[in-house]
Amino acid sequence: MTDPAATQARDAWGTRAGFILAAVGSAVGLGNMWRFSYVAAEGGGAAFVLLYLVLVAIIGIPLMTSELIVGRMSQESPVVAVKRLGGPAWAPLGWLFVFCGFGILAYYSVIAGWTMRYAFDALRGGLPTDAGAYFQSVASGWPAIASHLLFMAITVAIVVFGVKRGLERAALILMPVLFLILVGLAVWAASLPGGGAGYAYYLRPQLGELLDPNIIRLAAGQAFFSLSLGMGALMTYASYLRSKENLAKEATIVALADFGVAFVAGLVIFPIIFNFGLETTIGLGREISDNTVGTLFIALPTGLQSLGSLGDIVVAAFFIMLFFAALTSAISLLEVVVSAVIDGWGWRRRSASLLFGFLIALGGIPAAINIDFLGAADAFVGNFLLIVGGFFTAILVGYRLIGPADAELARGMDNARARAVWAGFVRYVAPILLLVVLYFMMPTAWQAFITIVTLGRG
Ligand code: PFF
Repeated sequence: MTDPAATQARDAWGTRAGFILAAVGSAVGLGNMWRFSYVAAEGGGAAFVLLYLVLVAIIGIPLMTSELIVGRMSQESPVVAVKRLGGPAWAPLGWLFVFCGFGILAYYSVIAGWTMRYAFDALRGGLPTDAGAYFQSVASGWPAIASHLLFMAITVAIVVFGVKRGLERAALILMPVLFLILVGLAVWAASLPGGGAGYAYYLRPQLGELLDPNIIRLAAGQAFFSLSLGMGALMTYASYLRSKENLAKEATIVALADFGVAFVAGLVIFPIIFNFGLETTIGLGREISDNTVGTLFIALPTGLQSLGSLGDIVVAAFFIMLFFAALTSAISLLEVVVSAVIDGWGWRRRSASLLFGFLIALGGIPAAINIDFLGAADAFVGNFLLIVGGFFTAILVGYRLIGPADAELARGMDNARARAVWAGFVRYVAPILLLVVLYFMMPTAWQAFITIVTLGRG
């Protein structure tokens, strides 16, 4: 179990497409499918979408490029890499990455477990008519724990197979199916007679909303979670790269694909909500702990039931898509933890995946039995800590490592002016904006922390 890592050949991607699909697979997840469209609709519609794209361009892509640079440069787990490259003072950043991977996967797997159960039941002959009661039964007590554990077992089973045979193969199979289902659903949703009001609600431009400081907090938190930033996930993936691709280009592709999926998911969800008159029953715009999960898991199945067997097919397709999206993201969350144990302690992949998968599964049980705990964990780890991690990553790469990082980027990007633009965003724009965001996030993060401590004790 403690074979030195040096005796194991380090994993690597088989193809560039495999790496990109796996990175897109990490980014595209549950976050895209429900949170983006909600925040967008509430936060200013089309105006918000533009603000979000600006944030992705000026913080998301430069930081993602930075993570990819550190990963490829180090050829090591982020935990080992930040300490070796930055010096011992940077070790806590690596621990923060692992803590986030552990903490997010623990509750993410709970929601993913629900989607898996829905997909399974829908395929077996449709969901029960009373979607509210069905959700209650799926999302509480033993059934919730059981589907969470099963989802974790599937995630571990893939990670055990390693980068090429596990992560890459899963992405190559699951992601194309996911894209096809999403496009199919969007085309179908466009044919709904009452869907126009949904598009109008989703995308009506409301400039006034953008002045609310909460909006920038929500947009930035959403961008980090959705792009898998701030916890070394894509850093880990890039550490399995050997070739000289242009990392800024790869980051742009991943970020735009992630945005595209989130945007199109909104084009599926809102026409359904409005066509079936569900907007009043779901309390549009609350955060995860109360009603937004209700939209996906209660309102959509309720609305679609009126379509009979066509509705059953749409429900099944929708939840299979969510399940695939969640799985490829969960794999990347577990890989952060597993790679730290392989590279840092010299463990074998199999023992690392099994033991840490098991510990994360245990860690998710409080979230499986208490949805408020889940919401608080999402707010604290999935939002606040990712921004903290992103801020320090920007400082590490932009100041401590700027010379070697620029040289690493130059291996695939010889345009020095473009690299200077990247450096400017990493050194000045990202840290300043992230400090502002952290300031606005303080109250919600604190509240979430208190909730976690209180519920954790109880
Ligand atoms: N990006 C994933 C989503 O949008 O659902 C969640 C996620 C995966 C966050 C990996 C962070 C991460 F490192």
